[in-house]
Amino acid sequence: MADKESSISGDTEVTVLGLGPMGTALAAAFLDKGRGLTVWNRTPAKADGLVARGARRADTVAEAVAASPVTIVCLNDYAAFHRVLDPVGAGALAGRTLVNLNSGTPAEARAAAAWADGRGVGYLDGAIMVPPVLVGRPESVLLYSGPREVFDRYEPTLGLLGDSRLLGADPGLAVLLNTALLGMMYATLNGFLHAAALAGSADMSATEFADLALGWFMPVVLSPASLAEQAPNLDKGAYPGDFGTMTMNLNALEHIARTSVEQGVHAELPALMRELAERAIAQGRGAENYFAMFEVFKTPGR
Ligand SMILES: NC(=O)c1ccc[n+]([C@@H]2O[C@H](COP(=O)([O-])OP(=O)(O)OC[C@H]3O[C@@H](n4cnc5c(N)ncnc54)[C@H](OP(=O)(O)O)[C@@H]3O)[C@@H](O)[C@H]2O)c1
Repeated sequence: MADKESSISGDTEVTVLGLGPMGTALAAAFLDKGRGLTVWNRTPAKADGLVARGARRADTVAEAVAASPVTIVCLNDYAAFHRVLDPVGAGALAGRTLVNLNSGTPAEARAAAAWADGRGVGYLDGAIMVPPVLVGRPESVLLYSGPREVFDRYEPTLGLLGDSRLLGADPGLAVLLNTALLGMMYATLNGFLHAAALAGSADMSATEFADLALGWFMPVVLSPASLAEQAPNLDKGAYPGDFGTMTMNLNALEHIARTSVEQGVHAELPALMRELAERAIAQGRGAENYFAMFEVFKTPGR
């Protein structure tokens, strides 16, 4: 082990910078699959378990990046990315490839790609769509964006982490889709939790409510298939109100907001949804179906 720790010889296949819960899971997945691995973390002790399993510990970021053709960066955000990598000399970086997997915004991702370009560094941006415990499973999706040739070159390595999907050349795409999908996740979670609170206001347990909501309502009324069926209409901007209009839905949202107040549970979420439907109606969409909210969401709001 001591030999491995002391000899950074430039021949490991992959380096991981950042050993928080996610970086550690990425590094462990490479070790599980038998890849030669170099690791670096600001707090060195977090590498101990990986080093005990055969990873090489780099003492500096420059040493870590120089150790492998490709470095996976998994720090908490783009500010940390720059704090860690800006000071590294051009000599250590040139000709290497960075795959940056922290979350952030598309503008931050594009700025990081331009930063890398200016230093002769290959760059892919990415987003991990699963928690650390699922990293390394073939069905776990990781999104990437950047040049196709860089993705293709390192896909055999990236593929060890899960199902790698290149979205396109714009480096901002992976974090954009990450925020879109997480936004959907939080909206769904909040919808479920608010509904459970409403049911709980009449002493129904969350367990009993989950049975009703997830055993019947979601599968029948709001299944993935029913949403997928509507997607082509979103692309066409077609929202026929034959089976229900925005005005009818506003009525339902009004009742959810008022019931929340009556029952003494939080009412801001339904109030916001009501306000958004009112805005759609003010834009002349009262006779269209609820999916016309898509047109509201496509425009800037506060
Ligand atoms: N955990 C998840 O479930 C999950 C899922 C999907 C995506 N992600 C994304 O993966 C990224 C990493 O997440 P994480 O869960 O591993 O934990 P995290 O708390 O977001 O990141 C921790 C890592 O960032 C390092 N770091 C922070 N500021 C630094 C600085 N100024 N200089 C040097 N290093 C710095 C930490 O070093 P120290 O150890 O020295 O503090 C540690 O290695 C995040 O962008 C997160 O959004 C996480």
